Amino acid sequence: MSMIPIARPCLGDEEILKVSEVLRSGMLAQGSLVREFEERFAEYVGVKYAVAVSNGTAALHVALLAMGVGPGDEVIVPSYTFYATASTVILSGAKPVFVDVTDNGTMDPEDLRGKINDRTVAVIPVHIHGHPADLDSIRDAIGDREVQVLEDSAQAHGALYKGRKVGSLGEAGAFSFYPTKNMTTGEGGIITTDDEELAERARAIRDQGQTAKYLHEYVGFNYRMTEINAAIGLVQLSKLDEFNRRRKEIASRYTEELSGVVQPLPVAEWADPVWHLYPVRVPPERRDRFVNALRERGVLARPSYPMPLYRQPVMGRISDRRYNYLSVLFEGVSYEGVETPNAERLIRELVYLPIYHCMKDEEVDQVISAVREASKEV
Ligand SMILES: Cc1ncc(COP(=O)(O)O)c(C=O)c1O
Repeated sequence: MSMIPIARPCLGDEEILKVSEVLRSGMLAQGSLVREFEERFAEYVGVKYAVAVSNGTAALHVALLAMGVGPGDEVIVPSYTFYATASTVILSGAKPVFVDVTDNGTMDPEDLRGKINDRTVAVIPVHIHGHPADLDSIRDAIGDREVQVLEDSAQAHGALYKGRKVGSLGEAGAFSFYPTKNMTTGEGGIITTDDEELAERARAIRDQGQTAKYLHEYVGFNYRMTEINAAIGLVQLSKLDEFNRRRKEIASRYTEELSGVVQPLPVAEWADPVWHLYPVRVPPERRDRFVNALRERGVLARPSYPMPLYRQPVMGRISDRRYNYLSVLFEGVSYEGVETPNAERLIRELVYLPIYHCMKDEEVDQVISAVREASKEV
């Protein structure tokens, strides 16, 4: 029996050819292909500037620093997301403040409203599973405060919010090109923005804080993207719309053919999601057995992230030097008593079904029959 993975990258001869050209050229470090990739990606998202970096975590980290986020600040993030959404806030020296999510898994604007205060400098909505967060309601909750929005778009390349691409709606967007994402560069990330100064700062911070050769105006990193990664990215970007079309086709099949069998998450009327993941809700007492029953049928589904981020061990040790080299900035910070009930419930219930753009029809068939059988069995 062939096993169907939860996700996988889909690469073809074009990527291999383009990478071979780079290897033959001998020009491996950030150069003209990275610039071309940035221009094309900015154009795709509909922003003026894009700054490519070594991964999505670096994109969030650099974006926060380029936005001026630092010690003493608070940044609001959803509690249900990948760790890097919050860890990069800590890396910037600021304190992550966790808010709940709505039924579609994205930031709850009402909970956000109650948690914004004078120390809040930024909010990071996450377009989780490829489903856009409700940006207008988030802006509404922010009101006329000076709070910047950084869209974590790591899972949502090409997703639309009210007809506009995610990554073009906040002061900045951050994308990941990890192999299982909707498009890949191997490892990679990019920052999108319309703000020229933010883009200039981001370019410097990713490259040793340099504004000219050996002129270091900022404390920076080596977070550069290589020409090899950009070469893969240029080809993948040209296929992204087709990849997303196929993901939507698979998601529609799951939604229609599994209706009444498992419960998918709702899609908001203003959302055109790109289905990085296909999550379904399964009662917690049945979930492990359900995942195992799928595995026995060759389907490698996966339960949700295991806990809301404020319960990750590091958050309880945030002021302990052994676990956080920036501990002095976090003295007295505690996440005890933080609760986000909707996120906690989703985390107990969610199972992600396999979805990737080169999934064959037979594989989709196999997932659908496995889910039908497994839900009868458990
Ligand atoms: C929501 C979210 N944010 C950030 C990241 C970090 O991206 P990367 O793995 O490329 O560092 C990821 C992906 O892994 C993600 O899913």
